[in-house]
Amino acid sequence: MIAEVRATRFVTPLREGGSLPGIIEADDLGTYVCKFRGAGQGLKVLVAEVIVGELARRLTLRVPELRAVWLDPIIGRYEADEEVQELLTKSVGLNLGIDFLPGSFGWTASHRLDPAEAARILWLDAFTANVDRSWRNPNVLIWHKQLWLIDHGASLYFHHGWPNGADHPERFAQQPYDADDHLFTSHRSGVPAAHAELAPLITSELLSTVLAEVPEEWLEPVPGRDGPDGVRQAYQDYLLARLAAADRWLPVPSESVESTR
Ligand SMILES: Nc1ncnc2c1ncn2[C@@H]1O[C@H](COP(=O)(O)OP(=O)(O)OP(=O)(O)O)[C@@H](O)[C@H]1O
Ligand SMILES: [Mg+2]
Repeated sequence: MIAEVRATRFVTPLREGGSLPGIIEADDLGTYVCKFRGAGQGLKVLVAEVIVGELARRLTLRVPELRAVWLDPIIGRYEADEEVQELLTKSVGLNLGIDFLPGSFGWTASHRLDPAEAARILWLDAFTANVDRSWRNPNVLIWHKQLWLIDHGASLYFHHGWPNGADHPERFAQQPYDADDHLFTSHRSGVPAAHAELAPLITSELLSTVLAEVPEEWLEPVPGRDGPDGVRQAYQDYLLARLAAADRWLPVPSESVESTR
């Protein structure tokens, strides 16, 4: 499992984030952006953050370190803001911590982009069906002059249907990916090379390592699947099926949309 730390102080809410994430300090003297289990989106978005973030890291893309953050009831007790206090109270237990990158700023087009890296990111988002990396909402930070990926909670949307059973990996596998809106849509021509490089790395062993990083208590029961390991296996089934159906979702290179941006 991703390493566990204990929150020692709630610093401030991050109002720009849709799910009201906040900055916290922890007993390892680290500072983290915390995504709370009690936020409206539920536990599945935390699971998606860990699976896609840890997968990206193993595909050599940069993702801030992830931690499971234990939140005691005491942390919310003296919080003056009622909305924040309510969220902290609802979030007692394990939450997601994303290492805070001090001095980072959001993606701007003035950054000198490595085209191969942009294509790898587009490939990852197509594979995991991440619709949350657009010009409006880049979810890429620049830190030490390099790209860092954040905010993968909207990917792997198939699991929101799992209360009815995880029986249709092939349906997700064949879902096309609309890359028109993607931040790096102009790098589609690099996607076949990214696919040739990254797809062979995604083995069942690699996925097992990634899925083992997800805290067990975030894995909600799925009918027909046996315990947390059965749920992990369901993720593995869906992702391997999608990998095998790449011809259905790989963004098609289109020379007409190429530009130097
Ligand atoms: N590790 C980090 N270091 C520094 N700043 C961060 C980090 N993670 C997130 N942020 C900042 O917090 C904002 C919100 O984070 P994030 O996008 O992950 O949350 P969200 O609630 O899913 O937001 P939204 O739904 O608006 O995209 C980011 O746009 C960024 O400005
Ligand atoms: Mg975001």
